[in-house]
Amino acid sequence: MTSDDGTATGEGGTAPVVRLERDGRTAVVTIDRPKALNALSPEVLDALAEVIAELTADPGELAGVLLVGAGGRAFVAGADISAMAGLTPDEGAQTAEHGHAVAAAIEALPLPVIACVDGYALGGGLELALACDFIYATEASRFGQPEVHLGLIPGFGGTVRLPRAVGPALAKELIYTGRQLDVDEAVRVGLVTRRFDDREALLAGARETVQLIGRNASTAVGLAKRVLVGAAGTPTATATLLEIEGFRDAFRTEDMREGVAAFLEKREPDFTGR
Ligand code: CAA
Repeated sequence: MTSDDGTATGEGGTAPVVRLERDGRTAVVTIDRPKALNALSPEVLDALAEVIAELTADPGELAGVLLVGAGGRAFVAGADISAMAGLTPDEGAQTAEHGHAVAAAIEALPLPVIACVDGYALGGGLELALACDFIYATEASRFGQPEVHLGLIPGFGGTVRLPRAVGPALAKELIYTGRQLDVDEAVRVGLVTRRFDDREALLAGARETVQLIGRNASTAVGLAKRVLVGAAGTPTATATLLEIEGFRDAFRTEDMREGVAAFLEKREPDFTGR
């Protein structure tokens, strides 16, 4: 269910578990279930899918999306463990498919999505952050795939996207041990691109980045994301073809004509997103 202001609600339509706010050219999607450290229950996954579908259908003038967790202790502490307790193997697989569908929808959204991590990003929470375009984090953040402590393995893309982010050896070490990285190590290994003192600085920094992105042709940014996401993990020849197709599509846009003309005429471009 989505309210008038774009808030996906759950629990009988009363308690918003995911909030969507549009503020100028930035959208902020907040996972708001702090009592369970924003754990991804089926309801939260549905609400996230709904909000992402809404952004995909109507991006308007948006230049980027921030994904945040409410409450100040966690981005997301994982898939909801109590919701998984009595599942059959097939239901377990359906849970994984549910999380994968949300991750795929984030990757298919033609807008950059910045995971803004303040606190725990564990299990499904780290996997959700990895489906975003990049991760910004506060000093207080911790990252890990602790599923083996529960007799589980990562199920929302950790075995796929974590090796791409940090390399296969470190991904294996993290998944086999379940140990947590602090923000220093997360930056050092390339998992986090920027660190901030606190939540306020984190959100301000992420908004600044969206502003920088917003100066560019949104058509080009969307095409670049399509190619980067599509090419991830594919052989060089396949990735190269995807890039050539994306480059071709850029020539179909008015923004490309405008951007090149503006450079040649020594003036600022006036991009329209077409
Ligand atoms: N699912 C459901 N509830 C969770 C949760 C989760 N993943 N993580 C935390 N919570 C709940 C706790 O049960 C607790 O609820 P109650 O107050 O009702 O008891 C509340 O959030 C606060 O948590 P803690 O009291 O445990 O807080 P803490 O500060 O002592 O510890 C923590 C914080 C280290 C993050 C700890 O909560 C923890 O280890 N959480 C589980 C992390 C985890 O294992 N994540 C992976 C889940 S499996 C998964 O994600 C599979 C997948 O890949 C799809």
